[in-house]
Amino acid sequence: MLEALRKEVCELHAELTRWNLVTWTAGNISARDPATGLVVIKPSGIRYEHLTPDKMVIVDLDGAILEGDLKASSDTASHLYIYRHRPDVNGVVHTHSRYATAFAALGRAIPCVTTGMSDEFGGPIPCGGFALIGGEEIGKIVVETLKDSHSPSCLLQNHGVFATGPTAEAAVKAAVMTEDNAATVWIALQMGTPVPISDENIARLHYRYTNIYGQQEGE
Ligand code: 13P
Repeated sequence: MLEALRKEVCELHAELTRWNLVTWTAGNISARDPATGLVVIKPSGIRYEHLTPDKMVIVDLDGAILEGDLKASSDTASHLYIYRHRPDVNGVVHTHSRYATAFAALGRAIPCVTTGMSDEFGGPIPCGGFALIGGEEIGKIVVETLKDSHSPSCLLQNHGVFATGPTAEAAVKAAVMTEDNAATVWIALQMGTPVPISDENIARLHYRYTNIYGQQEGE
């Protein structure tokens, strides 16, 4: 079932190690198949280099395992909560990437103080509250934290990053950009107080990046 999506989700996990966003077995990715609504997710606690498409687990939106010999990711219920409450989201990524998680350990949002961050996130990367791992509590916090934000990703206090996207690849990109910006802002904070960008300029930068930058469809 869902052979192409299994392969895609498996290959995207290799991006997390390539970009140094995860250590050992931490982190996970899932993707929702828009046609069937089924979700492909990483098996729990398997080392990244041992992941293969056939080891991915397929679940329905209520968490019933439809295919897979291995236990699904510990964060499955939270990924599914996000999919049930965000019809626009078809990819979810979780990491403990270093700089972003340092902000999360302080319960601090990452302030939007570069044009690159304005482009990608349209404002700060917010930080939600604390939740234990294993149920859908994390998913609830992610949905609530992203509700009034342009950002596709958020931090979870004392935990790490949850990134979302219209596809799993877009969610991986958001996770990569979250860490990249967290590192830049952290360095800036060591040197002094970052210069703020006005809300109006952040909005203009975000608009240009979203609607004009790169190769737009139909051009
Ligand atoms: P899994 O290996 O079960 O996906 O857990 C990794 C993790 O980071 C839990 O938050």
